[in-house]
Amino acid sequence: MAASDVDELTQDWDPADPATQADYPAAHAQVRQRTPVAWCGRWGGFYTLMRYDDVVQASRDPETFTATRMTVIPSSPRKGLPRLPLQKDPPESNRFRKGLNPFFKENRIGALEPQLVALADRLMADLKAAPAAADFSGGFAQPFTQGTLGLLLGLDPDEALEIGRLSHAYVEAVQGEDLETAGRLSREVDGFAIRLVADRLRQPRDPGTDIVSGLAATRPEGGPYTDEELAGMVRLMLIGGHVVPRNFLCSVAWHMATHPGHVDLLRRDPEAWKPFIEELLRFYPANQALVRVATRDTSLSGVAIPEGCPVALNFLSANRDEAVFENAMEFVPDRSPNRHVAFGIGPHMCLGVALAKAQTRIVLAALLGCDGLAVVGTPTRAKWTEFGITALTLDLRARA
Ligand code: HEM
Repeated sequence: MAASDVDELTQDWDPADPATQADYPAAHAQVRQRTPVAWCGRWGGFYTLMRYDDVVQASRDPETFTATRMTVIPSSPRKGLPRLPLQKDPPESNRFRKGLNPFFKENRIGALEPQLVALADRLMADLKAAPAAADFSGGFAQPFTQGTLGLLLGLDPDEALEIGRLSHAYVEAVQGEDLETAGRLSREVDGFAIRLVADRLRQPRDPGTDIVSGLAATRPEGGPYTDEELAGMVRLMLIGGHVVPRNFLCSVAWHMATHPGHVDLLRRDPEAWKPFIEELLRFYPANQALVRVATRDTSLSGVAIPEGCPVALNFLSANRDEAVFENAMEFVPDRSPNRHVAFGIGPHMCLGVALAKAQTRIVLAALLGCDGLAVVGTPTRAKWTEFGITALTLDLRARA
């Protein structure tokens, strides 16, 4: 639908409006004051929850706000493999989270960390050897998150490359609102997950390091996972576990390159790292929003939401809500407490929290090891429902 087709008289905001895209946090701040539960007529029409308290309440109430019918808007035209556990409500979703949990525990992530550090060192050495302008997104963040996912899932290098190519093409199509191409690529990603599961079931690998072999070896409640369930669990991570952290890490690099005082702070004070990373997550949540559907007529902040209406949980807006965060629009390196919802909250809270934080520590260390950090040119910014930077060029030799 073209922007001109949207009925501007009846709509409170439009995430696809170029002025909004130019500065989402500023646009959200205005809408949040005016209409905390904001209607948009685009993509069939949906409400967006702008306030922290509303986002938390809806996230924690899957009986009223179900994840089973829609989790992103605009949604891909073809429904393929289910994304598990995301597209199930509790208690069904818990069956999948229980199986996946051991692969995301701190000790398992800790065991991966030396390999992640080695990967980051290798990629950073290549970037430094390149001519002055370094493609941080394509030359570091992308292969780093792709490599991480490969290690987490137990992919062979050629499998990791194939899925890296597919997932970026898919997200580009979604960001460009080319839903036909997105639908085709989504089917290809489904095909990849189905082939991977078939391969590992035929020739099981070490259940401790290969996620499909590990999941197939567990005894979940209600009987073993079906082939489709296994593929659905892999399918969710193939895009979300790779592109979302890539955008976040690009935002992190942009932040460090544009805030030399923060580079000094982290070099000087090891204690500063933990709250600093939480504040990076609050400020640059790479999932701007995800969607639920109302299962009955309900209301939030006094606004009536009819049964069947899609409702976007706007994590970025919630993280800048002045009612919860003092000086919410400012980056406060030692903010405490910091109850951000960058990873969502409630039954679908991100399973990759420990992994994403480990990635951030490793990338910060790699950036701090550079002689200098300066942004070259203008970065490309992600659009709804994502947030952050997708393409970033850095000069790593400039004096900080
Ligand atoms: C900075 C990086 C990341 C951010 C900001 C992020 C954000 C999120 C958010 C907001 C959700 C909640 C979805 C909802 O409530 O609808 C989520 C779910 C999820 N994330 Fe992440 N994520 C990140 C990294 C990762 C990584 C690296 C992985 C794994 C490889 C991962 C795996 C998952 C999974 C499996 C779920 C679904 C959980 C469920 O449905 O029960 N995430 N993530």
